[in-house]
Amino acid sequence: MLIDGHGRKVNYLRISVTERCNFRCLYCMPEKPFSWVPHENLLSYEDMFEFVKVSIDEGIDKIRITGGEPLLRHGLDTFIKMISDYKNDIDLAITTNGYLLEETAQDLKDAGLKRLNISLDSLTPEIAQKISQKDMLEKVLKGIDKAQEVGLKIKINCVPLKDINDGEIINLLDHCKLKGYEIRFIEFMENSYAKVKQGLSSQEIQDIIKQKYNFTKGIREGSSPSRTYTLEDGYKFGIIEPHLDDFCKDCNRIRLTAEGFLIPCLYFEDAMSIREAIKDKDIKKASSILKDVLKDKPEKNKWGSENGSDRAFYETGG
Ligand code: 5AD
Ligand code: SF4
Repeated sequence: MLIDGHGRKVNYLRISVTERCNFRCLYCMPEKPFSWVPHENLLSYEDMFEFVKVSIDEGIDKIRITGGEPLLRHGLDTFIKMISDYKNDIDLAITTNGYLLEETAQDLKDAGLKRLNISLDSLTPEIAQKISQKDMLEKVLKGIDKAQEVGLKIKINCVPLKDINDGEIINLLDHCKLKGYEIRFIEFMENSYAKVKQGLSSQEIQDIIKQKYNFTKGIREGSSPSRTYTLEDGYKFGIIEPHLDDFCKDCNRIRLTAEGFLIPCLYFEDAMSIREAIKDKDIKKASSILKDVLKDKPEKNKWGSENGSDRAFYETGG
């Protein structure tokens, strides 16, 4: 079992397989990302898998593949299969913008993938395009349908932004309710790359939903970052509230970047590379780096503090 320096059990590894993306979401990317990591600096899937094995053997039982946009990197289904063949009961998921799902969903499912989180910020083509800066809505909706058709479990992520898609919250909720997916609204997390400045708070999101629905006050289960609210008819939606004071209290996660940096917290500069250890096939070293990084995992994010991180979400997978 992996325990961090503050006594929290860490069982969740997020792996960013690329920082590249085919969208430029207002809340995530600058117009021109400063530079993409050259391809030769990326860890190969084989190398990543070596680290995955170390992590699983040490107690990781939940893995999420992120990006950038992870479906842009070729061979992702092979990587998924490596992991699920190694430990079939691992809770394995991908976070994607959905654009390439129509053509990849079946292969991912066949490779052993169980769950997907898909970004959907609007059901109005112009608004969706304004946020992602790409004419993408029709293709994304088809991708989501395909993923459901092949039997992947789906959650939808939406980041409500002031005066941009706040009028879409009820629409999106109704759509997901009808389709049978859970939707999770995420409070916008300020970062130096975003082109927007203001998102909606959890309270503001709730106030909008209250205009149409009654719901019970949300509860947070275990280490989930999401608080679950239940409508009178039993439909459940979530709100992720990183601005709340106790958000980091039960944090159970650690992140691996596409270049091999292990990052203990989104809003924290420090990181250590497992690249050399993995290339040298030094499993002991990789395992000891993992433990060192966990020992230094901050108790709370350093968001907004002087030592806060300038690391971009599209590198770390949000
Ligand atoms: N604030 C909140 N959520 C964000 N995401 C990306 N950037 C931000 C941000 N600044 C989330 C989006 C997307 C996922 C990849 O990360 O929900 O769906
Ligand atoms: Fe790409 Fe996701 Fe960032 Fe949007 S939020 S630009 S889809 S990485």
